[in-house]
Amino acid sequence: EKMPLSIEVNGKMHQLSVEPRVTLLDLLREQLHLTGSKKGCDHGQCGACTVHVNGSRINSCLSLAVMNEGKKITTIEGLAQGDKLHPMQEAFIKHDGFQCGYCTPGQIMSAIACIKEGHANSEAEIREYMSGNICRCGAYPNIVDAIVEVKN
Ligand code: FES
Repeated sequence: EKMPLSIEVNGKMHQLSVEPRVTLLDLLREQLHLTGSKKGCDHGQCGACTVHVNGSRINSCLSLAVMNEGKKITTIEGLAQGDKLHPMQEAFIKHDGFQCGYCTPGQIMSAIACIKEGHANSEAEIREYMSGNICRCGAYPNIVDAIVEVKN
């Protein structure tokens, strides 16, 4: 049986009807057609699905959509202002912080949270904070460089 859900995504309010078993990731991708958040593992191991909920990062594959009643969600699609990219998006481009790009939306959402939550004070601290975001291409050093640049 579906449940009502009011949720704000990238500044836009949505009144939805959702089955209780649907994850926030599937809601974003399938009901709202925001496919920037990726499904890598679907069980909290890879970070490709990282979004912000009320400003804090979460793995959206581990959160039931209905648990997010009244909350503000930001996805990778919500970062740019018109045609102006977010500084972290610019930094990932400048430092080649990706190869295939599949993990990149999650990496960028975590990278922004890393600085905002005060965990970007050293490269070691950045690596620790970012350790839940897996990159099979091994772009890690460039990702750290991008975060260091935005931090400074
Ligand atoms: Fe959510 Fe991998 S898809 S952590």
